[in-house]
Amino acid sequence: MEHLRRNKVCDLLKSTEFGKEVLVKGWVRTRRGNKNVNFIALNDGSIIHSIQVVIDMANFSEEALKPVTTGSCIAVKGILVESKGQGQTVEIQGKEIEVYGTADPETYPLQKKGHTMEFLREIAHLRPRTNTFGAVLRIRHAMAYAIHKYYNDNGFFYLHTPIITGSDAEGAGAMFRVSILDPKNPPLKEDGQIDYSQDFFGKETNLTVSGQLEGELGAMALSLVYTFGPTFRAENSNTPRHLAEFWMIEPEMAFYDITDNMDLAEDFLKYLMQYALDHCMDDLEFLNKMYDNELIARLRQVIENKFERLTYTEAVEILMASGQKWEYPVSWGTDLQSEHERYLVEKHFGKPVILTDYPKDIKAFYMKQNADGRTVRGMDVLFPKIGEIIGGSQREENLEALQRRIREMNIPEKDVWWYLDTRKFGTAPHAGFGLGFERLILFVTGMANIRDVIPFPRTPKNAEF
Ligand code: 4AD
Ligand code: MG
Repeated sequence: MEHLRRNKVCDLLKSTEFGKEVLVKGWVRTRRGNKNVNFIALNDGSIIHSIQVVIDMANFSEEALKPVTTGSCIAVKGILVESKGQGQTVEIQGKEIEVYGTADPETYPLQKKGHTMEFLREIAHLRPRTNTFGAVLRIRHAMAYAIHKYYNDNGFFYLHTPIITGSDAEGAGAMFRVSILDPKNPPLKEDGQIDYSQDFFGKETNLTVSGQLEGELGAMALSLVYTFGPTFRAENSNTPRHLAEFWMIEPEMAFYDITDNMDLAEDFLKYLMQYALDHCMDDLEFLNKMYDNELIARLRQVIENKFERLTYTEAVEILMASGQKWEYPVSWGTDLQSEHERYLVEKHFGKPVILTDYPKDIKAFYMKQNADGRTVRGMDVLFPKIGEIIGGSQREENLEALQRRIREMNIPEKDVWWYLDTRKFGTAPHAGFGLGFERLILFVTGMANIRDVIPFPRTPKNAEF
């Protein structure tokens, strides 16, 4: 990296090598000053803070500084000095400026501070240059790295599950089709249905909704695996917590039961909160100050509390006895909505909650069936502000029980023969879960809308950029 010769702002702000010649490159946040002296705030994205470049106007013409406007990109050679100004410890005495790219003040959209989130979504190609999105994107990176580190350090293997699949893991029926057939003139079978045997893969295929089923195949050989990849859901949910394209982390563990699964989920989430506090404090402090002054306290609250564990049935009793007016009424057998989940977490327990043993009819076919015949060993981890952040379960490892459930739910056995084979050959108790990466980033950044924690969100009627 020596050959680059560029000094990153994050390194310079920590440096005490005063008097040293440095070279910084970045985007101008502001330039202000008078006939004698100008101050340029320069940001290169390596850290939330900009570095101040001081320009002695005795050495520069007004003309030379004219293109140095908000949004322009410049390189500055100068001397690192101790700062006399407030709010920074070092600054650069500028000696030479090279302008890489100008940004017309009439048309550059990021002129002033305090743009709305809605406006920034319309300029998602430029919003990484704001303090807010810089902070979010750096935290997002740190969390992705921490996730790989956690699993690597705990002996898990990263398994790459396919993105194009012929199966529907969740049975949600809301998938994006992958096809190269001519939509205007597709080949038809005798019964008038589209003949997918003539399509690229010789069958119907979709973008995956989850890597879990293939993850289970990996766990039945390597014991501990995880996937971390993009997943796609074509549900028309226009909420602050749903994306059509999102990233999911799915560990899958042989020889784990549901309690082991809960222990892992809790330890994993606490590790991630601690990692953020240890490595992202500059960005967290900014977000805490600007958006949500309970953010850092909430991260600590997750680390410090044992998650409350109770069954779905117990939760429904609490909700029904709460005297709350719900938008969606609760009774045993209904799926819980985020208003119910947040009541349990924020009002009733005041800490994260893990619900288990859900009615089988609101959960996927693969969950381990309980002896009562009506519940399954599923688990959801519920977080403050978010509601469901993790969904998972112990898996049904018994071949007959799984085949019975598949028939009940009208899933053709020929579509999942390979999945059933793991129950036929050397089956084992196992469990796993899925953490929605953007729900995690929502929680860690305190942002209010999931569209603001992924660089280029995909939602109904929106696939710009
Ligand atoms: O609860 P879900 O649907 O579970 C699964 O997909 C399982 N196959 C996971 C497993 O056991 N391996 O989704 C898991 C998590 C949710 O808890 C939520 O955090 C996130 O994925 N999620 C979404 N995030 C953003 N946008 C959406 N549309 C999401 N749907 C689910
Ligand atoms: Mg779920």
